[in-house]
Amino acid sequence: MLRYLTAGESHGKAMVAIVDGFPAGVSIDSAAIDGELKRRQGGYGRGGRQRIESDQVQVLSGLWRGVTIGSPIALLIENKDYKIDRMDDLDRPRPGHGDLAGAIKHLGSIRGVLERASARETVARVAVGALAKQLLQPLGITCFGYVVQVGPVAIPPTPGTIDQQLQLRSQSVIYSLDPSKDAEVQTLIDSVGKQGDTLGGIVEVQVHGVPFGLGSHTQWDRKLDGRLARAVMSVQAIKGVEIGLGFQVASRRGSQVHDPIQFDPSQIDRPNLGFVRPSNNAGGLEAGMSNSQPIVVRAAKKPISTLAKPLPSVNLGTLQPQQASYERSDICAVAAASCIVENVVAFEIARAIVEKFGGDSLDEIQARWELFHRLARQKLKLSAALGSTNKTD
Ligand SMILES: Cc1cc2nc3c(=O)[nH]c(=O)nc-3n(C[C@H](O)[C@H](O)[C@H](O)COP(=O)(O)O)c2cc1C
Repeated sequence: MLRYLTAGESHGKAMVAIVDGFPAGVSIDSAAIDGELKRRQGGYGRGGRQRIESDQVQVLSGLWRGVTIGSPIALLIENKDYKIDRMDDLDRPRPGHGDLAGAIKHLGSIRGVLERASARETVARVAVGALAKQLLQPLGITCFGYVVQVGPVAIPPTPGTIDQQLQLRSQSVIYSLDPSKDAEVQTLIDSVGKQGDTLGGIVEVQVHGVPFGLGSHTQWDRKLDGRLARAVMSVQAIKGVEIGLGFQVASRRGSQVHDPIQFDPSQIDRPNLGFVRPSNNAGGLEAGMSNSQPIVVRAAKKPISTLAKPLPSVNLGTLQPQQASYERSDICAVAAASCIVENVVAFEIARAIVEKFGGDSLDEIQARWELFHRLARQKLKLSAALGSTNKTD
């Protein structure tokens, strides 16, 4: 089983992750991981912390001559802003942060909670996802995320090939697929920031090249839609997750939601085995399994909870009403969230690949990938030859 844990406080020495169950034989490019870490630090609306950090991963174990050996992989990213022991506690919990619930839960300090609740932790998750992408890449699976809304401003993705969309994203200061909206979004973020307030938004992730059958319909905790939703919802400040059409399915008729099934024999050699869908409202997932169409996940991020113009709170020392504490903060981190959610999704896909195709090495996964597709093609041709008309419920 592919899994990971992270450790580290926001202003501690470092953020770390241990990735267990990663197959052997994958060449690891740590510069590619650093590229993802850099993207996480960017995007219009970030606070002063990002000017201090220049995140770089150290791969401490699990490689021999740059290639994975099947051992646990330890990743470390130093915090340049290491000062935790010189920092004071907060006495006025910030609404929307973990301050109140965590301090009471642990009968402890707000500092002890916020240092771990902080989204600085996502630096480790991005590093893990960027590692997972290096397992997906040789299988032809691509995963990328972008921003589709900032506050009230919708930024529908410009259609195009993956390369065209990545190109557009790289031109946008907010990591959207329509850089012509940047100026409007920047003005919004600036004006909200001047008012001491913050903004959220919506991010979307697409995964292309996914085979049939990742996840399972057989048990609740094996369903890939549920696993993706859990992983994405666990990202700091994410409050809603949609797959495909998401909440829109509720107001449409079945005929306007479900994606017709067509067969194009010229595509039988692709992971879709020739099955094409003129729409992808299911977002690539049916009954908890991937259906070979692109997986599409959207996530709603709430506005940052630390406000320069703080909300009412209570001083935990005096129990008297007082404004919440303020610490240096982002105004809008939706761009960063698009990178984080992308990498969290990439890890879940890699986990499902290892589960479906098994094996201790990339070679074994690739061999089983080939075998599965060969057997599926054989079965389809057999069914066609037999004129199969199986009835199902
Ligand atoms: C990329 C990113 C950056 C964030 N930056 C901040 C920040 O600067 N200040 C803050 O108060 N919250 C920030 N947050 C949100 C908090 O980490 C989060 O709201 C808090 O941990 C409470 O968890 P919850 O929102 O999931 O309930 C950020 C979240 C993300 C995804």
